[in-house]
Amino acid sequence: MLSNRGETYAVAGLANGYLGHLKAPFDKENKEGVFLMQDVILDYIRTRAASGLDRTSLTYHEGPFGSRRLREAMAKLITTYFYPASPITSDNILFTSGVTSLNAVCALCLTDPKDGILLGDDPFGPSAVIRYEEAFLKARDEDGVSVRALLICNPHNPLGRCYPRETLEALLQFCQKYQIHIISDEVYALSVYEENTSTDGFISLLSIEPANIGVNPALIHVLYGMSKDFAAAGLRLGCLISQNQKLLQAALSIRGCLNPTLVADQGGWAAELDLSNRLLQIGVRMSSGYAYHNEVPGWFRIIFSVEMETLEEGLSRIVKFYLSSGGSS
Ligand SMILES: Cc1ncc(COP(=O)(O)O)c(C=O)c1O
Repeated sequence: MLSNRGETYAVAGLANGYLGHLKAPFDKENKEGVFLMQDVILDYIRTRAASGLDRTSLTYHEGPFGSRRLREAMAKLITTYFYPASPITSDNILFTSGVTSLNAVCALCLTDPKDGILLGDDPFGPSAVIRYEEAFLKARDEDGVSVRALLICNPHNPLGRCYPRETLEALLQFCQKYQIHIISDEVYALSVYEENTSTDGFISLLSIEPANIGVNPALIHVLYGMSKDFAAAGLRLGCLISQNQKLLQAALSIRGCLNPTLVADQGGWAAELDLSNRLLQIGVRMSSGYAYHNEVPGWFRIIFSVEMETLEEGLSRIVKFYLSSGGSS
């Protein structure tokens, strides 16, 4: 027996296109099948990316939200191609398995049940704000729905158009006026025709300085990933880019499968977290029971399937730490 929504998904058949016979990869001889730029990408991954892999790429050690190397590489890419108004570092970025799952993460972290997210059709001119505002007010005043965010797709799928700067600014100001978040799915950012001079081309929401138009940067969130510009959808890599540390923290918690209700109710868990952090400072990672939904604080998980020397070193650090803090921790 599934949940009600599980039953709906089960009959929706949204993945049917992926089932059954797979399409053949592109065959240069008979020009059939699917061609993107996968040969180029595969060659790059095999020769450049894979050769730089190290152990951290295979572990959770730098977080189940992307290794620091990956997040730093993405920060560099964003800085180069999105022209962010404020510096973007690895601390502003977290990865999940694709932009699709980030939509769920954003919805979970920004809305409560029965809240709404605004989505638009034909939304490119600044007058879009009038229609968004109408929808916002109708939802609030007639339907009793609190709209908590506006979601845009820039460059747009399926229309392929980029939002002009003045529209983006108007949307930002609209979000500021009603204190709602703006989420910009920019997964197609670099897949635009450069020779098109009739528009400004792609302008990232990150490139607009919010302070100049009186907007709180904590309301602005961008989604990006490898599926489109890198023709690598199978890698399942998507990232959230935000200056909102609270949202990032919330998303990290969900990413690590923590129970959000426990986060609000810390109590003895705070001491456990503190101990975890202090152990981390001496190079010992001991996962807290909290992270695994344990019922009472004070339990830790330790991985001992490492080389004996490593285990002994870790244990001796814990003992030294315990003794140096008066055996009280
Ligand atoms: C606008 C847009 N965002 C996100 C996705 C999916 O991204 P991902 O493969 O990272 O889940 C798609 C896929 O078609 C898309 O069109």
